Amino acid sequence: MSTYAVTGASSGMGRAVAEKLTAAGHTVIDVDIVDATVTADLSTPLGRRSAATKVLELCGGTLDGAVMAAGVGPAAGNVRLIAEVNYFGVVELLEAWRPALAAADKAKVVVFSSNSSSTVPMVPGRAVRGFLEGDVDKVVKALKIVGKQAPTFAYASSKIAISRWVRRNAVLPDWAGAGIRLNAIAPGAVLTPLLEKQLASPDEAKAIKRFPVPIGGFGNAGQLADWVVFMLSEAGDFLCGSVLFVDGGSDAWFRADDW
Ligand code: NAI
Repeated sequence: MSTYAVTGASSGMGRAVAEKLTAAGHTVIDVDIVDATVTADLSTPLGRRSAATKVLELCGGTLDGAVMAAGVGPAAGNVRLIAEVNYFGVVELLEAWRPALAAADKAKVVVFSSNSSSTVPMVPGRAVRGFLEGDVDKVVKALKIVGKQAPTFAYASSKIAISRWVRRNAVLPDWAGAGIRLNAIAPGAVLTPLLEKQLASPDEAKAIKRFPVPIGGFGNAGQLADWVVFMLSEAGDFLCGSVLFVDGGSDAWFRADDW
């Protein structure tokens, strides 16, 4: 049996992953801002350091895997908050946990990206670069010019940046070379509290309903959690640097020929 850290484990897809791993007999170290073994605010450097340290204490220096599901949607309305949680709340924790992941045999990490990373047009490249340079002020400045749309672009750029970070790092000696499989999952609209907050705004609800989803409807948290658990299983031994879209076909609809 394995030990996994799961962020965002108190709600939605993170909770569904934690429940499935626990039911399968694994040990889950759950991290969230509320109702978790490790309670920490991942929107602040202090909260991220505290979460990283507590997980390392609890796992005893070896982590078989991590699932990075903590995140806030565009409905949060706060560009800096979206940037801090969705990107830095993933990268800083994984960098701190890397030695513990390297100490395990075939460790596996699944990061929650989103199909917003490929379906939102005109995302400012400067914001994406700001993330990858570790400069949150640059991200916030780059998004000021887009006005009312800033939270949507903050969300999309955070997910583009985190997918690039996964793919860039997955292949490096520190990660693949240390036996750590680093991958991402990119869901489409999944009915969780995050999506419900967006649906509560009439404008957002209209945009979500107009969005092309070839297979129709919304995903549910359990389906996405099943994919994550599969990626953590032996089936994922040869999976490295992939971004798996589970989105009812939206990504294919927008960029079928983008290969
Ligand atoms: P959710 O809102 O149900 O769960 C997110 C969790 O993150 C919550 O437990 C929340 O407390 C935690 N969290 C938020 N801010 C935090 C902070 N500052 N510190 C610590 N924990 C914090 O959302 P859902 O839908 O399960 O989202 C999981 C991941 O999937 C997120 O990264 C989200 O961006 C991504 N995603 C969600 C989609 C959807 O349609 N629901 C679509 C594509 C991606």
